[in-house]
Amino acid sequence: MNCQKFIRAQVKGMARTVGGGRVISALSGGVDSSVCTVLGHRALGKKLKVIFIDDGLMRQDEPRQVRRNFARLGIKVQVINAQKDFFRALKGITDPEKKRKAFRDCFYRTLGKAVKASKAQFLLQGTIAADIIETKKGVKTQHNILEQIGIDPKKGYGFRTLEPLKTLFKPGVRAVGKALGMPREMYLRMPFPGPGLATRTMGLVTPERVEIVRQACRIVEEETRHVKLFQAFGVLLADQATGVTRDGRRAMGHTIAVRCVDSKNAITARPTKLSWGRLMAIEKRITREIPSVTKVLYDLTPKPPSTIEYI
Ligand code: XMP
Repeated sequence: MNCQKFIRAQVKGMARTVGGGRVISALSGGVDSSVCTVLGHRALGKKLKVIFIDDGLMRQDEPRQVRRNFARLGIKVQVINAQKDFFRALKGITDPEKKRKAFRDCFYRTLGKAVKASKAQFLLQGTIAADIIETKKGVKTQHNILEQIGIDPKKGYGFRTLEPLKTLFKPGVRAVGKALGMPREMYLRMPFPGPGLATRTMGLVTPERVEIVRQACRIVEEETRHVKLFQAFGVLLADQATGVTRDGRRAMGHTIAVRCVDSKNAITARPTKLSWGRLMAIEKRITREIPSVTKVLYDLTPKPPSTIEYI
């Protein structure tokens, strides 16, 4: 693919479609939505409003980093703090599918409100070819955003979607990001699931439990920074397990599973062969920096039969 030619064609196409209208982009900070937003900004400039929904389920410092990365590219991002709404929506839920649904409903409600308030006629989306294929196969329906936020485009409620990346697969999206002059850390970013740390918190998703997962993910990412891998993170399991306090008493604590995988496309994956020294360093930091954790496990299962995430 000739990236510059692709960029020129998309910029021209979007500018023509939008004309004098207004567009909103819901940035997640992931590769697809980031590349899409930069492309949209090139085509539309001030006609594009960029929002970032802070759901309270992001990794350490993520909202600030996303905002800063985009500020460096001259793109202003409005952060919508919806943390309370998300924790309220997830309250009391332990079932994985119900958790995903609660997250999705809250996400589209929040996005729907923002789109309506912006009076935009277009929603810019980072849908890629794999999303369309998975939607057709019934694996995923996320990209079909209009229906999910309760807007039937047929009834002419007024806005349309722009999906400039829909013919590309991930490597193509990364190549376009590079050609757009984005920093490496943006277009080579590690995949992170839409429902964020809720997918890595077994049992109840409370701010306190999510904070434990956030710290575990930070430590695992920091300790594997120089290891070539596809994804690396920590998961808080639902059950408690025994440990001993510094003064020798028996105490129940949390269990963290460390998950590091090698993969090309996330369809299959193998556990990363971390050295024993690296694993010990991760254990030491987790139990030292998160004192409520009494057990640290390394997940050895490939996909299949396992999956990469825990829900
Ligand atoms: P699994 O757990 O199914 O994950 O092996 C495969 C890849 O997809 C990511 N993942 C998600 N990404 N929304 C996303 O945008 C989601 O709901 C979601 N669930 C899993 C996961 O991190 C891995 O890269």
